[in-house]
Amino acid sequence: MKKTTLLFTLFVFALIIACKNESTTATTTTEAIAEEEEEEIDEQYLYASTLYQKNCASCHEKSVAKFMQKDFLHGNSWNEVNRSIRYAHTFMEKVDFVKTWPDSAFNKLTDYMLVSLEQQTIESFATDVDYSSTIKSENLSFKLDTMVKGLEIPWGIDFLPNGDILVTDRNGNFYRQTEGAEKVLIKGTPKVHYDGQGGLLDVKVHPDFATNQTIYISYSKPNNKKEANTAVMMAKLVNDELVEQKIILDAKPYTTKKYHFGSRLEFDKDGYLYVTIGDRANRDENPQDLTKYPGKIHRFNADGSIPKDNPFVDTESAIPSIWSYGHRNPQGLVFDSQTNTMWETEHAPRGGDEVNIIRKGKNYGWRVISYGINYNGTTFTNTTHKDGMEQPEFYYMPSTGTCGLTIVRGDKYPAWEGDLLAGSLRFRYISRLKMDGQKVVGEERLVENIGRLRAIKMGNDGYIYFTVENPGIVFRLMPVEDAI
Ligand code: HEC
Repeated sequence: MKKTTLLFTLFVFALIIACKNESTTATTTTEAIAEEEEEEIDEQYLYASTLYQKNCASCHEKSVAKFMQKDFLHGNSWNEVNRSIRYAHTFMEKVDFVKTWPDSAFNKLTDYMLVSLEQQTIESFATDVDYSSTIKSENLSFKLDTMVKGLEIPWGIDFLPNGDILVTDRNGNFYRQTEGAEKVLIKGTPKVHYDGQGGLLDVKVHPDFATNQTIYISYSKPNNKKEANTAVMMAKLVNDELVEQKIILDAKPYTTKKYHFGSRLEFDKDGYLYVTIGDRANRDENPQDLTKYPGKIHRFNADGSIPKDNPFVDTESAIPSIWSYGHRNPQGLVFDSQTNTMWETEHAPRGGDEVNIIRKGKNYGWRVISYGINYNGTTFTNTTHKDGMEQPEFYYMPSTGTCGLTIVRGDKYPAWEGDLLAGSLRFRYISRLKMDGQKVVGEERLVENIGRLRAIKMGNDGYIYFTVENPGIVFRLMPVEDAI
């Protein structure tokens, strides 16, 4: 009995000391996050997981998912958990977070705790998966070839007619990779604003590269006031150098905000170039205003000029390159020439990452309508429908941090024909959206926990390529015969 009391007292002291040391750090991070209300879901997630590790894990389970499996005394719903975090610790003198945190910290932590339950299957699954051997999915076995290594954040990939891979690294490096050879650093790349979500972003090879050597890159372009915007440059790739450079899009206004640059590049079958630009973390001004570039998808002729049949060329003071608007942060774009459809994915604030079909002149609703919700299960923070605004074809709940998009066509993956493949930054998998025509009828998660999925594309050889971050790798997904 005595021994138990002593142990208990020591335990309480240890806890108090641990909490005291950590509460200062927590308050600073909390202030930082309040400013960044507009951060990407995956960054919010990282923030909340840090809060948990710094302030809670010392007393509770190290794994938040494990903690959440318990039946809490006062219930496990969003409201009940939120209340427990606020009030279960009030009697503990040295637990500072109760007094110092703003509401947003409690709420984000609660979101995180609730969502972690759904993520838990991924985490526990991940540890015993070996991605170096054959991987079985619902209807296809495959293996992964490592095509490019030694990267940080491979943001965009595309392919030259000879099969070489072009890959951008967000840190500003740009490479050409011949299979099996050393990768080559391309010279003459522009100065990029490598901060937050910015840097060197997407790459697209002109459909007639063989005759004109032209490629396009998108990037965060800095000015001399520590601000940046999203820009697109076209250039010729000659002897591994970008020459005859021309900036075809300089998406003003510049801002110090480090988020929501977009930006994907894609051609349709008529040779028009589409460029996505995020709302640049200015959701109230940019996405619905046709006189501003951000929060839009733009359409250009391949030489950078404006097509005469763009929807707003005759609208007074509207930016003539705008093709569609009301976008938050579109980071997936793929044209399906079989159905003449432009598919797009974009990040939503909490839940509700969207899969859209992009049509001329349409308004996709941000920030007026959205499926983003609070994880209290009931309260919708936004309207979801409005006349004159498009509905998504599909939305993810919770948000996956959707990034990169392709559609499976060709003869290499008959079981996946016509399916969309979307990357997930947050849950680190490929989301295979099973399609019935243009309807999403189911989802399979592939290569779970392999890494933050940034880009995914069908190569000229008909195979699927995708990139993961840190360590940055470009993989090729190769079907294999079932070895039964
Ligand atoms: C100093 C140790 C300590 C720290 C730090 C701490 N807790 Fe607790 N927590 C406790 C104890 C002890 C209880 C049980 C209180 C009770 O029974 O009323 C508790 C209760 C809870 C409960 C309710 C559990 C139930 O069964 O109803 C939740 C939820 C919770 N804590 C979450 C957190 C979160 C989230 C953090 C970090 C922000 C945190 N705690 C930090 C010690 C701690």
